Amino acid sequence: MNESTVRVSVPLPGRAYDILIGEGLLAEAGRHLAPLLRRPRVAVITDETVSALHWPALQAGLAAAGVASDVLVLPPGEGTKGWPALERCCDWLLERRVERGDLVLAFGGGVVGDLVGFAAAILRRGVRFVQVPTTLLAQVDSSVGGKTGINTAQGKNLIGAFHQPAMVLADIGLLDSLPPRAFLSGYGEVVKYGLLGDAGFFDWLEAEGPAIAAGERVARREAVRRSCEMKAGIVLRDETEQGERALLNLGHTFGHALEAATGYSDLLLHGEGVAIGCALAFALSARLGLCPQEDPGRVAAHLAAMGMRRDLSGLGEALPGPEGLLGLMGQDKKVVDGQLRFVLARGIGQAFVTPEVPRAAVLALLEEALAG
Ligand code: GLY
Repeated sequence: MNESTVRVSVPLPGRAYDILIGEGLLAEAGRHLAPLLRRPRVAVITDETVSALHWPALQAGLAAAGVASDVLVLPPGEGTKGWPALERCCDWLLERRVERGDLVLAFGGGVVGDLVGFAAAILRRGVRFVQVPTTLLAQVDSSVGGKTGINTAQGKNLIGAFHQPAMVLADIGLLDSLPPRAFLSGYGEVVKYGLLGDAGFFDWLEAEGPAIAAGERVARREAVRRSCEMKAGIVLRDETEQGERALLNLGHTFGHALEAATGYSDLLLHGEGVAIGCALAFALSARLGLCPQEDPGRVAAHLAAMGMRRDLSGLGEALPGPEGLLGLMGQDKKVVDGQLRFVLARGIGQAFVTPEVPRAAVLALLEEALAG
């Protein structure tokens, strides 16, 4: 491990794994994976964007340790995360006679990680896989914790499985190739961790956010490390989301409704929806007298300082009215017995889940937010 690399462990009984976070990890991939390999070959699945930018580096990093690799390159984008691509991945892996003792590498952002993780979960009733996340969103959230799956006509992530990776290699050097908007979208998930459970981390983000966005190495690595550490802790205590793991959905109930209303298009990226959703969750918490009145302003101010969206401006025409948005929130996976559960906060770093939110308060908040 080079000296810039840090390790976060996820000691789940029987399926413990490490998340390595640092620079130059693609070049070292073969060395890190070799101890996990039964034979010196891996099957890699990626998308066209990542392949063009980074596949030569990963292939060379594997070959340097004598690990042969075969690659399947899929079209980029959310549209790939469905049944046809899942079938393609499974057929391709079976044609290559990938066995349970082998490793499949999911090399890309959240779409590739979720899809390939799910293919690995169902192939031969479960083969091991490694996440090599290439976006900030994937490095701090989707590559950790074992949620895998695909979208269907009925909604996002409705078919899937919990299948933990055997390792996560988060090379922060790859974040340099992200368009700034995609980077900041991922930063929405980083802010979420501070807001849901670590006020000190949020303080730190307020100070270091601009350096993180500007590419400062130590700050970037620390932002990814702390996010992964927080997620690992929650996953350890509640792997299958019976309770605490739902806190990771702070901002997501509002965010998913906004994403659905904008057709999962470029109008609103996932992390942008999460950031706006966090701002709305704090506004709702303050309105209900749950958190200090100054907290929503502080959340919005940090998002504004980072040049991020924090309200519905620019989305207005694409959105239905308050009732329509509330209806879309009702499609959320967190609905239990028809009752919507919200992640709200008693303050920055103190999120909790509650089903007890008056409908009128949500509608009033949405009405104001839509009026801008
Ligand atoms: N992205 C939320 C979770 O992994 O639970």
